[in-house]
Parts: sequence; C-alpha cells; structure tokens
Amino acid sequence: MNSPVMQGLDLNTPPYVKNARLIAWVADMAALCQPARIHWCDGSEAEYDAFCQQLVDAGTFRKLNEAKRPNSYLACSDPSDVARVEDRTFICSEKQEDAGPTNNWVAPADMRATLRPLFEGCMRGRTMYVVPFSMGPLGSHIAHIGVELTDSAYVAVNQRLMTRMGKAVYDVLGTDGTFVPCMHTVGAPLAEGETDQTSWPCNPTTKYIVHYPETQEIWSYGSGYGGNALLGKKCLALRIASTMGRTQGWLAEHMLILGVTNPQGRKYHVAAAFPSACGKTNFSMLVPPAAFDGWKVTTIGDDIAWIKPHDDGRLYAINPEAGYFGVAPGTNTLSNPNCMASLDRDVIFTNVALTDDGDVWWEGMEQDTGKVPAHLIDWQGKDWTPEIARQTGAKAAHPNARFTVAATNNPALDSAWDDPAGVPIDAFIFGGRRSTTVPLVTEARTWKEGVYMAATMGSETTAAAFGAQGVVRRDPFAMLPFCGYNMSDYFQHWLDMEQTLLSKGAALPKIFCVNWFRKNEAGKFVWPGFGENMRVLKWMIDRIEGQTPGQETMFGVAPDYSEINWSGLGFTPEQFETVTHIDRSAWLEEFKLHDALFEQLAHRLPAALLTTRADLEKRLAA
Ligand code: GTP
Ligand code: SPV
Ligand code: MN
Repeated sequence: MNSPVMQGLDLNTPPYVKNARLIAWVADMAALCQPARIHWCDGSEAEYDAFCQQLVDAGTFRKLNEAKRPNSYLACSDPSDVARVEDRTFICSEKQEDAGPTNNWVAPADMRATLRPLFEGCMRGRTMYVVPFSMGPLGSHIAHIGVELTDSAYVAVNQRLMTRMGKAVYDVLGTDGTFVPCMHTVGAPLAEGETDQTSWPCNPTTKYIVHYPETQEIWSYGSGYGGNALLGKKCLALRIASTMGRTQGWLAEHMLILGVTNPQGRKYHVAAAFPSACGKTNFSMLVPPAAFDGWKVTTIGDDIAWIKPHDDGRLYAINPEAGYFGVAPGTNTLSNPNCMASLDRDVIFTNVALTDDGDVWWEGMEQDTGKVPAHLIDWQGKDWTPEIARQTGAKAAHPNARFTVAATNNPALDSAWDDPAGVPIDAFIFGGRRSTTVPLVTEARTWKEGVYMAATMGSETTAAAFGAQGVVRRDPFAMLPFCGYNMSDYFQHWLDMEQTLLSKGAALPKIFCVNWFRKNEAGKFVWPGFGENMRVLKWMIDRIEGQTPGQETMFGVAPDYSEINWSGLGFTPEQFETVTHIDRSAWLEEFKLHDALFEQLAHRLPAALLTTRADLEKRLAA
C-alpha cells in the first residue's frame, strides 16, 4: 500500500486519539490525497486563533476593526464559489429509485471511479485538517459524530463555530466508536514549491457534492463555500440523517425550532420549514411588537431539526448544530435585532462589504443608520459607491453573503437549546416565498392535509443556491435540495408518523402554512413581516388552545380579520384581504403544478396525497 509514512509523511496522531478505524482511515485518505502535512484539530481557542492568523496571512481573512467588531474576520470567496451547487449534488444509493426523481443519481461504483482520480493528490502542498465534530450535544444518545478531512482552514474555523468540534469528540469516539467519514477538498492542489495565487482556492470548473447513503459517507470536491464544504450541516445533518431517520423512525428536517412563552408563562414549541433564504433565522429570533407585552420568543435552532417520537406520543426536537450560518443582506436592527446583537463579536463574515473603518456592511443596513456609506470595498474587492451601484447595479455584499457565529452569541437563545431530550413540538409551520396565490396563513384540517400542503409547497428560488432566481418551483417540506432518499418515500414517512403518534394517544401537532411574501401590483411586500409575524404566531397559539374559531376556506382554516391582534400596526381589513385572498383561477393553475410534481413522483407516491388532492379540488369547485 502506498502508505503516507512511506512517502515520508508523518500521520502526527495525537496520543489521545485511540480509535483504530479513524486512524486507519486518516492514513488511507492521506495516501490518496497526499497532503504536505496533517493537523488533528483539538478545537481549542489557541488553535482557532492560530488558524485565523494563518488565514489572515494567506489573504483569505481580513481582521475587522477590533474596537468595532472584536475577534471577527471577513472572507471573500471566489465569484465562482458563492452558494450551494444543487446540480452538482448527488445521492449515490445502490438503486436509482431510492434516490428518487428529485435527486441527481449516479451508481456508487461509477461515482467512486470518477472521484478517485480527482482526489488523488488533491491536497498536494496543503495541510489536511482532521476535524472531529458532533451533531447534537456531545456524547448524548441523540448525537451523531462526523469527522471531516479537509484542506481548508476556513472550513476548520467555521466548523468550530457551527458544531461541537474538538478533542472531546475523540474521547467520545473512544477506541471503537463510529463516525460518518466526510471527505472535503477545495480541489486545487499546489505543485512543488508553488504557493496560492488566490485567497480563495477552489476548483472553478469541477465540483461534486456526493453522498453514499447506504455506507453513510460524504465526498465533497471543488468548493469551499457553506453547505458544499461544512459537511456536518446539509450533507450529514440533513441528507444522511434523513436516511437514518427513515429507517429508525424519526425525522431530519430543514426547520427552525423556537419556543414561545405567553404572559402567563405557558410555553409552546414550534418547528418551521421555510426554503433557503426564506426567513428561518429571522423567525427563530423574532422580537414581538410592543403590543405583545409579556410574550417571549426564544431560539432553539435556526436551520435544522432532528425530531423523534417519544413514549408520551409527542414529537421532541433538537437542533443538531451549535451555530448559525445565516444570510446577512436584509438583516438589520429593525428586521432582526437579536441577530444583529449576535453579530457584535466573534463572527466570521463571508462575502459582505468592508467599510473604510474596517467594519462590515451589507444591503439592508442603511435602514439602521438612514444612509448608505459613501465608500465601501465590495465582496469582490472592488471600490463601491452609491453612484457606482446606481450605474452598474453592483451589490456591495453578495446576495448570499453569510455570517458564521456560535449559537451562544444569541441573546434570545433558549435555555433548552442544548438539551439532548429536545423540546416537545406543538405545531409545524411550512412557508414558501410566493408573491401571489398563497395566503398569509392557513391551518390544515387533518394531518394528511398538512402533509399534502407541505408536500406541494412552492417557493421562488433564492441566491442560496447557484442558478436562476425568483423562479417558482416545488420545494416539498423545504427539503427538495436536502432529502437523502426518494421524495415519495419521504412523504409516506411523514404520513406514517400520524399512526405512530396516535397509537400512543397524544394530540397531534397542528400543521400550518404561511406566506410572508405576497406582493402588490407595485411589487412591494404587502405583509410587514419580521417581528409582525408574531401576530400570526399568536393566532396559531390561540388555535392550539382552542380559543378562536377560525373559518373554513378551500385551503384549510384561516383567521378572520377580527381574530388577529392588530394593536400598534394599523393594518386595515382591506390590506388583510390582499394578503389572505384566495383566487380561484390562480388556485386552478396552482393545482396543475401540484399535479406536475405528483406526475414526477408517481412511481411510489402515497395514495393519500391523491385523495387529498381530489378533496381539495371538490372544495374549490363548490
Ligand atoms: P437558510 O439559512 O438559507 O436556510 O435561510 P433562512 O430561511 O434562515 O433565511 P433568513 O431568515 O436568513 O432570511 C433570508 C431573507 O429573507 C432575508 O433577506 C430576509 O430579509 C428575508 N426575510 C426574512 N423574514 C422575512 C419576512 O418576514 N418578510 C420578508 N418580506 N422578508 C423576510
Ligand atoms: C441553505 O442554503 O439552506 C443554507 C445555507 O442554510 S448552506 O449551508 O450554504 O446550505
Ligand atoms: Mn438552510
């Protein structure tokens, strides 16, 4: 075997790493990738600081003004590497039908044959970082351990904020604990004596984000950005975990989790699935308007939920992550004050703009200060002024610019956010970004109808993924890019959950659909959104408590104008009509899009969805 020791490369295994399978795998992968050196991460602050300094020296990081933004950095990526790449993402199950029609599929043997030569020598001239991490509280029965081998120090520092990363993970692994192997390379090997010509090495032409669900492996090539590279997040905690959940009877979902406490101290928990860049971080940190004195919203998670049925018949959710990788543009102290407070210090910013005094800026911040800065360095390192923006339309920050920050920075963090027992879910919310057709809020009359609503959800595409933007597509359960198996089987898994819960005798969580994004003829949002979403959340709580009747519509139960607390907002019944109106002809068109999805998924589509479809059509005709 072409062992790394034979090439003169020391494995450098620390004495406290005792897992034979891990050590053997690192040796194998080092032989394949041929890095110049190996670094086993311990997750310490000293290590984090050293990596950041190294990234500063390499030009990848810029240290921000210590007085304005302590211990924080700005990274600007290559313009070819700014978002997830859905067309390069693969679910390589043995059988194509197990990946299903919504996933890219290649037979595992063929994909391995493609990736092998790409990974051969892919880390030449670079360090291979061994990044051990836990998704979920360290050592808890609910957690899953991953080990990412990466040639990106940027990934290593981000993983320290996003996961429980470090030495304690090796301890939990012990001698024979299991982990999900996560291979990552930016795909830019250096020749002998060569140094980087760019501050964001990546492969501008070849990218692969590959999952082998049966063997639970992840292989990512060519990108250093976000979900493509931080493999604990979408790859492990959603795509691989969803396949675990399917066989083990639980759910891995693209959902925020929040706690909402009323003035009497009664607390409810809500999990909400909105597609990428459609408001999860914002909703999870919601600050209620003044009229909701005594109400409190606390964050358990902002992106991913692992949800398991317990013996009491209720679903309990944990957030497997330990930090937020959130959208910066649009965030300000009016739209999301808790988020802005989270970003005061200890942050890694990616692809936002740099101010002349060494701080950060992005579109939307002008709402805080009342003005746009006269001069910035934009995310591509170019001079930016309001005049240049007027002439060229150039954005100072990339629309998918993001911040990475530990959850513990969030002033609204829920005290149970780290509890391995999770929090009991009282309601699910599903919401897409729709400028037309879909009303502000409706409640499913049954579990099946809720599953139907979630399964057929449409949303306008955003900058979170590479490709056309603002195009309405079906994004079932906000999981289209993240479901690691056949979407029809996933629908069945959700339908089956009803019996699992009912058999234990508890009440089912309610299921709601929302749309914060309806626009008027002038193209302006008609719903104020953000903190004002509390008004809708409160109506949901009233429904859970059985305190408000709602009214039947074609598409579930909706609030009457009088059922919502409008105090302090001045939202008229006419305005309410514009966000809640159900247009029959628009819905006839919408049903055609449901049908197109069901045709695509026909092979294993649960019959219950077709009967629900027929019921809804009858209601629309009535
Ligand atoms: P991912 O991290 O990509 O999964 O996204 P997310 O769902 O957490 O999205 P986030 O909360 O970061 O929101 C992204 C965008 O949605 C920002 O541009 C926000 O300004 C906008 N947004 C969030 N909430 C609302 C709302 O209630 N109304 C409107 N109009 N926009 C909103
Ligand atoms: C998303 O796109 O849904 C994200 C950002 O949460 S990323 O981690 O890049 O996938
Ligand atoms: Mn997400």
